[in-house]
Amino acid sequence: MTPHETALARLRAPLPDDPGIEDLLRYATLAANAHNTQPWRFAPNGQGVEIRPDTTRKTPVVDPDDHHFYASLGCIAETLSIAARARGQGGEVTLGASPGNPIEVALDPGPREPGALFDAIPQRQCTRSDYDGTGLAPDLIDQLIAEAAMFDVAAVWVPADEQADLTELVISGNTAQMRDLAFVAELKDWIRFNPQQAVATGDGLFGGCAGNPAAPTWLGKLLFGYLFSVEAETRKYRRQMASSAGCFVLVAERNDPTGWIAAGRAYQRLALRATALGLKNAFVNQAVEHPESRAELANLIGLPDKRPNFVLRVGRARAMPYSLRRPVPLLVD
Ligand SMILES: Cc1cc2nc3c(=O)[nH]c(=O)nc-3n(C[C@H](O)[C@H](O)[C@H](O)COP(=O)(O)O)c2cc1C
Repeated sequence: MTPHETALARLRAPLPDDPGIEDLLRYATLAANAHNTQPWRFAPNGQGVEIRPDTTRKTPVVDPDDHHFYASLGCIAETLSIAARARGQGGEVTLGASPGNPIEVALDPGPREPGALFDAIPQRQCTRSDYDGTGLAPDLIDQLIAEAAMFDVAAVWVPADEQADLTELVISGNTAQMRDLAFVAELKDWIRFNPQQAVATGDGLFGGCAGNPAAPTWLGKLLFGYLFSVEAETRKYRRQMASSAGCFVLVAERNDPTGWIAAGRAYQRLALRATALGLKNAFVNQAVEHPESRAELANLIGLPDKRPNFVLRVGRARAMPYSLRRPVPLLVD
């Protein structure tokens, strides 16, 4: 096996029946998180573990108000909760009173609650490829909506044959971002151009996950500006949107860190349920990251007073290569 394959196998190895905290947290880190920055650290506190926001891993250009930062913490809190419950180790999530505070996940003996969402943790991925164009039966859509509803998050389904306006918002958001030099520089910083670089950092966006060929880091950085063109990206997103069964727009009840964490938890459960049902998904968040597109999107889905948190496309496709994580950043006093 290559070092990249070894790292993936180690990261995604099955969770032991009676896991210690490091194994439990390894599993939790398989959660989705923006730019794969992994903005978390963990502090065991006797009753469980605190998930502490790691403010050194923010992405201020794409995420100026920390929406994705908090949503990513919601994703990992929910994943840890599902893993702990499956292994009879509690898993209740308590949010800190103010935004900078940790999220606590209780780890205490309880009933074992295994299930399809737990089984899906190592299989879930953001699949950034073309899908096969098949639709989703209404009962599948309902199952996905129900997962988000657990956190008062509306999952508004836009089927492929009604998503023309949504596609335009994704494209216009993407075009605005690509014309923003600071956005492009930040994105480039988080791209990992080859397996060696991905293994060395254990974070970031490995090009291979999106089907891009590997290149030496220096060459990748150089070519990025040429290959990452508005025209090529527009073509890609049009194709990818058209190949999907449809999109969900997720909208939390509250527009503050508590609501953003809820949106992250809702996404994580929805994505795990989708995975369990044999579906793939990928974010197309350009429409919520660019403020003007976001306002238009809120109108488009008939919720003009709310902040749409995410747009994700859903469908069927083969799995792409999986992404890596850093070793568990466990703080021990
Ligand atoms: C809040 C949030 C925002 C994200 N936004 C995007 C996005 O706009 N485009 C995208 O391709 N992936 C997006 N992602 C997916 C992450 O890049 C992905 O979760 C991370 O690279 C790890 O890969 P994995 O989910 O396949 O394990 C987002 C994830 C989260 C949690």
